[in-house]
Amino acid sequence: MKKKTENKWWKNSVVYQIYPKSFADSNGDGIGDLKGIISKLDYLQALGVDVIWLCPIYKSPMADNGYDISDYYSIDSQFGSNEDMELLIKEAEKRNIKILMDLVINHSSCEHEWFKKALEDPNSKYANYYIFKEGINGNPPNNWRSIFGGSVWERIEESNKYYFHTFAKEQPDLNWECEDLREELYNLVNYWLEKGLGGYRIDAITFIKKDQSFKSFPSDNDDELVDCNVGCQNQIGINKFLKELKEKTFDKYNCMTVAEAPGVPYSDLKDYISDDGYFSMIFDFSYTDLDVVDGEWYKARKWEINELRELMFKSQLETEKVGWGALYLENHDQPRSLDKYIPKEDISYESATMLATMYFLLRGTPFIYQGQEIGMTNCKFNSIEEFDDISTHDQYKRALSAGLSEESALEICNRRSRDNSRTPFQWNDKKNAGFTEGTSWLKVNNNHNIINVENQVNDENSLFSYYKRLIKLRKESEYSDIIISGKIEPCLIEYDNVIAYKRVLDNRAILVINNFNNSESSIKINEYVKKVILSNKDELLVQGLKYVLEPYQSVVLEI
Ligand code: NOJ
Ligand code: CA
Repeated sequence: MKKKTENKWWKNSVVYQIYPKSFADSNGDGIGDLKGIISKLDYLQALGVDVIWLCPIYKSPMADNGYDISDYYSIDSQFGSNEDMELLIKEAEKRNIKILMDLVINHSSCEHEWFKKALEDPNSKYANYYIFKEGINGNPPNNWRSIFGGSVWERIEESNKYYFHTFAKEQPDLNWECEDLREELYNLVNYWLEKGLGGYRIDAITFIKKDQSFKSFPSDNDDELVDCNVGCQNQIGINKFLKELKEKTFDKYNCMTVAEAPGVPYSDLKDYISDDGYFSMIFDFSYTDLDVVDGEWYKARKWEINELRELMFKSQLETEKVGWGALYLENHDQPRSLDKYIPKEDISYESATMLATMYFLLRGTPFIYQGQEIGMTNCKFNSIEEFDDISTHDQYKRALSAGLSEESALEICNRRSRDNSRTPFQWNDKKNAGFTEGTSWLKVNNNHNIINVENQVNDENSLFSYYKRLIKLRKESEYSDIIISGKIEPCLIEYDNVIAYKRVLDNRAILVINNFNNSESSIKINEYVKKVILSNKDELLVQGLKYVLEPYQSVVLEI
């Protein structure tokens, strides 16, 4: 067993997120797999990443594409075998790459043997591994709404008993109040760490503690239900579980942990991410979800770059006060960042490299989601049937019942569906974008004839090469220490739609300026500029004390 050292290696790392189902298919069944990933490790090494986060690959009936686990100790046969996983860890290690698995321990699959045994025998110890309650007057035990729609309670046939699910009904929540269950979970966490895993991305962890009164709340919608967050997100008492989880597992290893932790107020952040916090870092959704209301895509909201800037800097400064953060633009639950942050007609090499520069040099560990490095965009889905994602189908129904037309509901799904980021990775311009020899499980984006790895990997002027440059700048340049350890100082906020900040270490500093305007921005810089470190355009026009940034120009200056 490796002892924990003070070496926080993840601060120097760049993480690459893989959605295994859509990355590379090695055997032609239309589904990406571990052998496929192994065959692409050289590509990832060439990009320069140090860590790979794999979305869930454990045995699963795939109601939520692996976020419903039926056996935590086995790799699903769709993805390969346990031997393949060990091989992946070894092959990655040869390239100095560590592997993170996704840890889904708020819920299991309803096909997990614990759940089956709990249903079979209500007196077995497994019944206490889940949350069962009696219905009230023929109704569910309370009025909480599940994140994927409908009640959080599912009735057990021929009984008045219900079980609790924060997400889909196929994902029953585990009862963290039960000590035996918690021990089972710690064992499985340690099992994979013992196999040489680099750490975990931890799913939906702020949901593990439920308000034990399970009381109803006033409804927030026409369905008479209320968002379950009121009783199961970041509830009082969660600290005990998180502390115990960390002490019995992560603390024993020098591993990286990044938690999906929605609902943590900045006032509690210290407990989560300080040096002895529960995790190495957490994802902050405050600015990436600024286009929707309460996570409900059909309630789109208008937003502006100035607002993004304000929320993002708030997050940076609050994080800096207490610990370390995760930087990201995309993941498997988000649409593609180019479609989200850049007007459609302006999506280009310039705007894509600007977006990359903007987030990559902030303070924290950068994450790249598969395909982001080549500029993959949202895909056009022509009907609701073309979508696979469980939550897209729910949001579509919710949009219809809120009175939207089928056309608008479809448009919303096209804009926000999680399938936008789950379409197969675009390796080349051939059939199925080189992802599979067979029939792909999900639609391949038509634009793979232009946007693909083969077109970019050897081109110095491609987005891929720009990402490579950013990674080098962050990891192995004379500015690495500033980028990794420097303080963050937002600046130039008097300029609309310009996101600019300094990174400062002792008496050295860099200034990063990103012009989100589709017009020139003439910016006065009060410091002496020593050097242009990076620009996404050949020219940088200087007029007296002013720097004239072209539309979507991004510059990194030493000051
Ligand atoms: C968050 C994951 O990122 C998402 O994909 C999943 O559907 C839910 N948690 C439920 O596990
Ligand atoms: Ca396959």
